[in-house]
Amino acid sequence: MKIKACLFDLDGVIVDTAKYHYIAWKEMAAGLGFDFTEKENELLKGVSRMHSLDILLDIGKVTKTEEEKQVLAEKKNQLYLDYVKRMDEVEILPGVTQFLDDLRSNGILIALGSASKNAPLILERIHLEGKFDVIVDGNSISSAKPDPEVFLKGAELLMVNPAECLVFEDAQAGIEAALNGGMKVIGVGSSVNLSHADHYIPGFDKLDYELLSKWYQKEDMSYEL
Ligand code: BG6
Ligand code: MG
Repeated sequence: MKIKACLFDLDGVIVDTAKYHYIAWKEMAAGLGFDFTEKENELLKGVSRMHSLDILLDIGKVTKTEEEKQVLAEKKNQLYLDYVKRMDEVEILPGVTQFLDDLRSNGILIALGSASKNAPLILERIHLEGKFDVIVDGNSISSAKPDPEVFLKGAELLMVNPAECLVFEDAQAGIEAALNGGMKVIGVGSSVNLSHADHYIPGFDKLDYELLSKWYQKEDMSYEL
């Protein structure tokens, strides 16, 4: 079995928007009268906007009606967009562009698989839209990670079998989504925060196709790149 496609999460993998999500949620929590820590923020990574709000309100032991939640979610998004609108390609994480180009020149298909409804705007801001063969984001899925829908849809659009896909994820919900879809997954970040990934990398600056290939052969995985 060969890997034919790589699927990338966006927030925290391609760009460090996770910090902007955190700032926006923290500001909202402060407005609601409670503190929201960086450790608690790990629970929100990869999770949809509305589910993130539910988790936040749970942490603060705050109850809101559905209508109030819609207003709060919109308010959080506006706080978040204040940062997104100021983004440019400088914010692409180290090594990402080179790695995407390297994969492409080695014939690997590339998809984006993000829970974010802001993914198209972010890709436009950082001028990276052209690097992806397909883009699946929060606007085109109905079940959020850890449901595998976002990645399965990416594989389907690329016309590649899930077993031939490798996912890059920085969130536990995303790692589970990949595994639930029958895909291999590399955790971007530390195994302290992430579990069950096949491998972990701190980032893309030391990764290339050749190294990835050697890696998998060395570890005698059931497939090769
Ligand atoms: C994920 C982020 O990629 O997208 C989550 O990790 C975020 O933190 C989710 O809540 C939804 O994003 P957005 O931009 O649609 O609010
Ligand atoms: Mg992420």
